Amino acid sequence: MTHAIRIHQTGGPDVLRWEEVELPAPAPGEATVRHHAVGLNFIDTYHRSGLYPLPLPAGLGLEGAGVIEAVGEGVSEVKVGDRVAYAGGPVGAYAEVRNIPAHRLLKLPDSITFETAAAMMLQGLTAAYLLRRTYRVQAGDSVLIHAAAGGVGLIACQWAKALGATVIGTVGSAAKGELARAHGCDHVINYSSENFTQRVREITGGEGVPVVYDGVGKDTFMGSLDCLRPQGMMVSYGNASGPVPPVDLLLLSQKGSLFITRPTLMSYTAKREDLLALGAELFAVLASGQVKVEVNQRYALKDAAQAQRDLEARKTTGSTILLP
Ligand SMILES: NC(=O)c1ccc[n+]([C@@H]2O[C@H](COP(=O)([O-])OP(=O)(O)OC[C@H]3O[C@@H](n4cnc5c(N)ncnc54)[C@H](OP(=O)(O)O)[C@@H]3O)[C@@H](O)[C@H]2O)c1
Repeated sequence: MTHAIRIHQTGGPDVLRWEEVELPAPAPGEATVRHHAVGLNFIDTYHRSGLYPLPLPAGLGLEGAGVIEAVGEGVSEVKVGDRVAYAGGPVGAYAEVRNIPAHRLLKLPDSITFETAAAMMLQGLTAAYLLRRTYRVQAGDSVLIHAAAGGVGLIACQWAKALGATVIGTVGSAAKGELARAHGCDHVINYSSENFTQRVREITGGEGVPVVYDGVGKDTFMGSLDCLRPQGMMVSYGNASGPVPPVDLLLLSQKGSLFITRPTLMSYTAKREDLLALGAELFAVLASGQVKVEVNQRYALKDAAQAQRDLEARKTTGSTILLP
C-alpha cells in the first residue's frame, strides 16, 4: 500500500483526496519509483477541473523525481537504485510511490537534486521544445514570453537570453517584474496595468516580434497576434486564464500571413529518442549555469489542494514542488 492524491469527481481544489491506495508489482515495461519530490504544474488544475478530461477516479500529476525500487519484465532503460525523473503521462505523480512506463524515465546526473528535477522536468522540457523545436530562437531575435515569472516563464526567459535573444516578458505585478528581470528579461511589461501590444510595438520600433510564447490563453491571445511581425509565429501553449475560443483563419491573413501552433510536450516527447535529446539539452543548459531553476514554493504532498489554489490565484512564482 501507499498514499496518493486522487479525485473521484472534477471541480475545485476541494475534490483532491489523500488516500491509501494499493501499489501492484510493476507490469512488464514498468518501473516502480519512490518519489523524493513531485512537481506542481498548471496542467494538474486542468485535469482536476475537467478542462482536460480524465477517466475517474484518477490520480493527478505528471512530474516527479526519485529512486527506482523495482522493475518489471523487459525493462532495460533503468535498474533498481537509479536516480530518475520524468515529465508526462500517465497521470499519477501525486503519490509516495508509483509505477510508470520505464521508457518515460530519464536518469538524473548526480549534480541535479531530486527537488530541482521535480521542479524542472515538465517546465524545463517545455521551455526546451518551445525555444529549440517549435520556433528555433536565434541570436538577435526579439521574443515575447507571457507569464515570464511563472514556472515555464522563468526557465524560458533565461534560456532565450542565453540563446542571444532580446527577451520581452509580461507579468501580473511589479514584484514579479523584478524577478523576471533578474532571470533574463530585457523588457518587462506589467499586463495588469499596461497595454502589452502597444509596448511590444514600441520596444521593437514598430516591427513586432517573430514569435510569441503564450501560456496565458484567453486573456492574451488576440493581443498576442498583434505583437507579431508578418509571418510571425503564435505559439499558444496553455490556458492559465482560460481556453482560447475558436479562431477565424482569415485573421491570420489579415494580420500578415501569421502562423499559429498549439503544441504539447507530450507530442514533442512521444518518441523516446526525442525525450532523450530534449532531456540532454535541458541538463546541459543547467550544467552551463545559464539557466537556474527556482523552487520558490514547497508544500507537503498531502497539501496539494492548497498548492493548486495558490497557483491558480497567481500567488506563486517560478517552480513549485510537493514533498511526500
Ligand atoms: N503545452 C505544453 O506543452 C505545456 C507544458 C507546460 C505548461 N504549459 C502551460 O504553460 C502555462 C504555464 O504553466 P506553469 O505550470 O509554468 O504555470 P505558471 O506560469 O507558474 O502559472 C501561471 C501564471 O499565469 C499567469 N496568469 C495570467 N492570467 C492568469 C489567470 N487568470 N489565472 C491564473 N494565472 C494567470 C500568472 O502569472 P502573472 O500573475 O504574472 O500573470 C500565473 O502565475 C500554463 O498555461 C500551462 O498549462 C503548457
